[in-house]
Amino acid sequence: MKKSARDYIVFPLDFPSIEEAKSHIRVLGDRVGMFKIGLELFIHQGPAVIRMVRDMSPAGIFLDLKLHDICATVFRAMGRVADLGVELATVHCSSSVEMLKSAVQGGGEKVGVLGVTLLTDNDGKTLAQGGFQEQFAAEPEKLVMLRAKMALDAGCKGVVCSGREAAAIKAGFGRDFLAVTPGIRPAWSLTPGDDQKRITTPEKAIAHGSDLLVIGRPVRDAKDPAEAVQKVTDEIETALANRVPV
Ligand code: C5P
Repeated sequence: MKKSARDYIVFPLDFPSIEEAKSHIRVLGDRVGMFKIGLELFIHQGPAVIRMVRDMSPAGIFLDLKLHDICATVFRAMGRVADLGVELATVHCSSSVEMLKSAVQGGGEKVGVLGVTLLTDNDGKTLAQGGFQEQFAAEPEKLVMLRAKMALDAGCKGVVCSGREAAAIKAGFGRDFLAVTPGIRPAWSLTPGDDQKRITTPEKAIAHGSDLLVIGRPVRDAKDPAEAVQKVTDEIETALANRVPV
């Protein structure tokens, strides 16, 4: 079945309470392709939240716990993630190929593992502060590509990267290797002081070949989240019509 514009949208359920999450699922349940459950809601609600989202919406579920630990622990933890019946889950790329392999092996056939390359609130400055080589601080996309290759070699289903790097990832690692892009900021939503640094508009992310666009605060904090999602959907639709096939 052909992927429609809304199938590209991942809405993160970044809420402190189950009531707020539910009210957004009610409004957006048929308007987005996936809900992302991250640390805030998972820590608050535990695994039961996954069943709740499943029961309320046909959208897919992306469990974004960004695992990062020794291989044995990641293997076992991803095994438990796989038992929860989610479509996608995340692990950081910043340790080793072995850790990524452990995540993939732990998940088995039951869950698609995505490697988080470099968080989009990082840039050259934060890399320099973290002691990274000058070549990476000068060009963070080099680090993203290196880590994406690690994820590919480990058997991950794809990576989380910024929309700016999606084109290079699709070109370098093939159309089936997913580029999932947070840091999405429609032109109408730019707010000063936002922590996200390597941002793109929905239009640019699609033009660069992104497979899934994680878009949180521009929708969550909009006066009318349904209207905000509709605007994003329209922008994606137009961008898809103009996209050069990869
Ligand atoms: O659109 P917004 O900035 O609100 O999206 C934030 C969400 O995207 C959070 O759930 C955060 O964990 C996730 N995120 C991510 N990877 C990044 C940046 C943000 O998964 N590199």
